[in-house]
Amino acid sequence: MRPGATDVAALDAADPLRRTRDLFELPPGIIYLDGNSLGPPPKAVFAALDQAVRHEWGAGLIRSWNDAGWFTLTDTLGDRIGHLIGAAAGQTVVTDSTSINVYKALHAALTLRPDRRTIIAERDSFPTDLYMAESVAASRQDVTLRLAAEPSSLTSLIDGETAVVLLNHVDYRTGALRDIPDLTSCAHAAGAVVIWDLCHSAGVVPIDLDACGADFAVGCAYKYLNGGPGAPAFVFAARRHHDSIVQPLSGWWTHDRPFAMESNHRPAAGIRRMLCGTQPILSLRALGAALDLLDGVEIAAIRRKSLGLTRLFMELVEPLCSAFGGRIVTPRADNERGSQVAIAHENAYAVVQALIARGVIGDFRAPDIMRFGFAPLYLSYREVVDAAATLQDVLEGGAWRDPKFAARALVT
Ligand SMILES: Cc1ncc(COP(=O)(O)O)c(C=O)c1O
Repeated sequence: MRPGATDVAALDAADPLRRTRDLFELPPGIIYLDGNSLGPPPKAVFAALDQAVRHEWGAGLIRSWNDAGWFTLTDTLGDRIGHLIGAAAGQTVVTDSTSINVYKALHAALTLRPDRRTIIAERDSFPTDLYMAESVAASRQDVTLRLAAEPSSLTSLIDGETAVVLLNHVDYRTGALRDIPDLTSCAHAAGAVVIWDLCHSAGVVPIDLDACGADFAVGCAYKYLNGGPGAPAFVFAARRHHDSIVQPLSGWWTHDRPFAMESNHRPAAGIRRMLCGTQPILSLRALGAALDLLDGVEIAAIRRKSLGLTRLFMELVEPLCSAFGGRIVTPRADNERGSQVAIAHENAYAVVQALIARGVIGDFRAPDIMRFGFAPLYLSYREVVDAAATLQDVLEGGAWRDPKFAARALVT
């Protein structure tokens, strides 16, 4: 049922997160439904970067590695992200990209299970995870990658040969949410190690890695954590694994005493084993300012609003889908979806471009998915209604048929 104007106004008025929008720099006239791909800049980032460039870099010069705490930002920021994903301090670092962290975690996990030969992943995983798994399998004798064709067939593939299971917490296309405790215990029961890709859930879905005995997790900081384009990613490894971690990108930052300049590698104790080399300090500073924004905000409150926004959007676009050949592929059950709504449509690319031209920014994922991400920190229920109305307008009026909307850009 369509909510009336007053219902939506009431929802926004009662929203405990309604004030956090003012902490973001968002262009006027835009409804931003792509924070699941790239979060917008928190206003505090501008001052943080100015301070980092002028004072830490400009005035402090190389002294800032010590004086400004640059060298340990990987750990201090890691702990702050750890807090958001239910990991006690000392188990998470911010470093490298998610792709690289998947690579390191896969090798580390295989080393924990030297007598086992199989990596299991899902065919519909985000491609970089699969590409990394392929290359790890290719680099190790006798290791093979097996892909589950359907989420339902995943658990039947896990057996006594399985060394590691690599899973996305939220399916990047459909928005389907996996059950971390359940799948982790299923893999553990078979003696396997699990790596969770939290790219689409960190900062927006409650996660309790320690409580479910998770092994490894990775994720990026430029989506719901708003760390900026190309922000360094994070990697979590459970403390119980630290002494056994062997990963192939052991650079000088993973050395026990990096400034001893020894010619042989001696791994550091703890989670710093998952680092590699020098990190982009300015990006880390931007991420730090973005994380400040989450201080004091309950993930449970974010989740409640996220479910409200996605539920409302699905209610509003359902009739449009029936009328215009679309299909909502995101699960309707609250406990089965992340923070996005995906609609399969034959002309998804052109429809998304027509929406963007009207100020509603979502994105397209091949082969036929329109994706709309709902970031509770800066979206209102009013915008959900307006975005659905714009979609209706584009579909009813056929604006998407303009040939200019069919031309594929380099980045979709
Ligand atoms: C689920 C998932 N994993 C991994 C990545 C890739 O991360 P990166 O390009 O930062 O290595 C993405 C990027 O969108 C993603 O959505």
